[in-house]
Amino acid sequence: MSSSVIGAAVSRVDGKLKVTGAACYAVDHPIENLAYGVGVPSIIANGRITCIDSSEAEKMPGVITVLHHGNADPLFRPANAFEQNSRAGESRPPFEDDTVYYYGQFVALVVANTFEQAQEAAARVKVDYAESKPLVHVGDVPAPTGSPARHYMRGDADGTFKTAPVQVDVTYTTPAETHNPMEMHGTIAVWNGDKVTLYETTQGVVNHQHVMSEMVGVPLEDVHVISPFCGSGFGGKLFPWPHSMLAAMAARRVKRPVKVSVPRTMMFTTVGHRPFTQQRVHLGATQDGKLISLQHDVLTPSSIIDDYAENCTEPTPLLYSCPNVTAQQHLVHLNIGTPTPMRGPGTTPGLFALESAMDELAIKLNLDPLEVRIRNYAETDESTNKAFSSKHLREVYQKGADRFGWSKRNPKIGSMRDGNLILGWGMASCTWPAGRSAAEVRVRLNADGTARASSATQDIGTGTYTVFAQVVSEKTGIPVNKIDVVLGDSSLPPGPMSGGSTGNASVLPAIAKAAETVVDTLMEIAVKTENSPFHNADPKTLKMAAGRIHAQDQSPESGVPFGDLLKMRRLAGIDGQAKTAPDESSRKLSSHTFGAQFCEVTWDPGIARLRVSRWLTVMDAGRIINHKTARNQILGGVVMGIGMGLFEETIYDSRNGKPLNNNFADYIVSTNADIPELDCIFVEYPDLNLNEYGARGVGEIGLTGVASALTMAVYHATGIRVRNLPIRIEQLLV
Ligand code: MOS
Repeated sequence: MSSSVIGAAVSRVDGKLKVTGAACYAVDHPIENLAYGVGVPSIIANGRITCIDSSEAEKMPGVITVLHHGNADPLFRPANAFEQNSRAGESRPPFEDDTVYYYGQFVALVVANTFEQAQEAAARVKVDYAESKPLVHVGDVPAPTGSPARHYMRGDADGTFKTAPVQVDVTYTTPAETHNPMEMHGTIAVWNGDKVTLYETTQGVVNHQHVMSEMVGVPLEDVHVISPFCGSGFGGKLFPWPHSMLAAMAARRVKRPVKVSVPRTMMFTTVGHRPFTQQRVHLGATQDGKLISLQHDVLTPSSIIDDYAENCTEPTPLLYSCPNVTAQQHLVHLNIGTPTPMRGPGTTPGLFALESAMDELAIKLNLDPLEVRIRNYAETDESTNKAFSSKHLREVYQKGADRFGWSKRNPKIGSMRDGNLILGWGMASCTWPAGRSAAEVRVRLNADGTARASSATQDIGTGTYTVFAQVVSEKTGIPVNKIDVVLGDSSLPPGPMSGGSTGNASVLPAIAKAAETVVDTLMEIAVKTENSPFHNADPKTLKMAAGRIHAQDQSPESGVPFGDLLKMRRLAGIDGQAKTAPDESSRKLSSHTFGAQFCEVTWDPGIARLRVSRWLTVMDAGRIINHKTARNQILGGVVMGIGMGLFEETIYDSRNGKPLNNNFADYIVSTNADIPELDCIFVEYPDLNLNEYGARGVGEIGLTGVASALTMAVYHATGIRVRNLPIRIEQLLV
């Protein structure tokens, strides 16, 4: 069992807690003497607060205080804004001054004995503003002329394009999207003397601890962040947002624990979003379909407060082979909240443009879209001239085409039918960087026969608890259900953020090393303990399997349960701790995950109904540690991508920057009824250059490429090319 546990479709070890409601999420923590903070959001997007009259609110039953820029204790800017492990979602501390930068900004916080009292009083706080005209959409500001936020160049893309035999020049847009995890953001802040404990929902307990230390102004060791479960984040919970500092500040002021839960409406304003993107793609190719020029020009908005550039051109210089490439990104600043990474940030909207343009090129060339991609296959990462650590995209295309039946595709628009329905088939490539960072883990073996692995990283719903237990099980033979994985606590050995799909690649090697360390200690105990059957044996002749120490040449059953050895020494347990980091040699290679999306839509022209009817994703993600949780991640990404293609768009009112669809009735995400049976397969080539397990991340890549495959299928069915997401029925009625 010890080797087969890696790769097995182990069910989530935390699954039962979640489905029974026993899992304790951030604002669920039972805290005594709790007070409730409810925010007053700005109703303008640009201007100044001229007066806050809280006199009526303060007289309401149960109200303890009303805090705002005029009376709150100061909060501070993060010292290393936008650096890893010290990055806030918004670098301006809340209540810094009387300036309003976006609709929905916290302008006051009412603290009361109950949530209802705080909410009622918050509605009675009168705020007067001096309003200026807000900049809400990119069209509200002049096109940027300065140097780009990001720039990449090789060869002469512009010159080559002008003389290219086949040219594509198209502009795509993707709308602002809001993360909208089921679990809304929320914080409970509890002070004990000068120390503060924060019950949080975060993708990074360590980063959260650092930022709160800086922004609240307390020493790092006096901030304790606890986040055992996360009702998903999708990137929105990578960095702390204003409500968290407000909870800490308010709790210190009222000398009681304070809970601030962000209501769904404010989830659309103060906790980040994926920004709108406008992307112009020029492709130049030879008649036989070889790319000779690629230009990708991106415009995205950030807030007035921060420079957040959605990195749409991340895949552009490396996905295809092409000698002449430019990629540049310009920023404009609008009166909206600061954008933040959202699942597959940059690459997801970026690939919508790039992959759609590749399809438009295929059509101009009268070539199969898959064939165009194969003709431009990148054998190396041409952006860095590095070899790929492991790339099997050609096999992905082949396996996908075979399984989907791609060879039966008739390229003629509207030619494929199923009764009265017109079928459209589309495909797209996907990619996502495979990163790895440092991680530290402690593994403990207990005398009662259980084990424990702990690290200050967190499970954001992806299956982290489960795969970590699998690795401890692999190294010790202890069954997964006897291994307690403890995460989401900043006091544990420091682990990485759950971001960029890097968790597994970063932490698994540390768990393995910590487990090996503790097993070595156990061997020492086995040979040094007098009544141990292995007393005075050479530890090199021993092995640990099935939870027992045994002689290498004997079966595990012949050995001694590890708990018995610990009991012989009257030990409660023993620990092994290890820290790992990516080694230098891995920097000489380019690590990316690759994949392909294949999709079928049905179009009923009689009633203008578009349905997604079939989906296949093929992934080259290295070795899969858990086939169940990995598949879940990919399918979830596809579901979200179908939402991006068909539904999702945060619509801001031009007059005041208000997100008009700031609720689940009007902000449409995919539901079960929108999703067909989803098929997903992996080609499994362990990426041993990245880590000894050969595992790359799968949290984000499932979303990439989805919207382009979908618009391509719609084009194939209808002849209408949708370049501005989401696809709307009215765009198809012509
Ligand atoms: Mo991911 S957008 O880094 O959670």
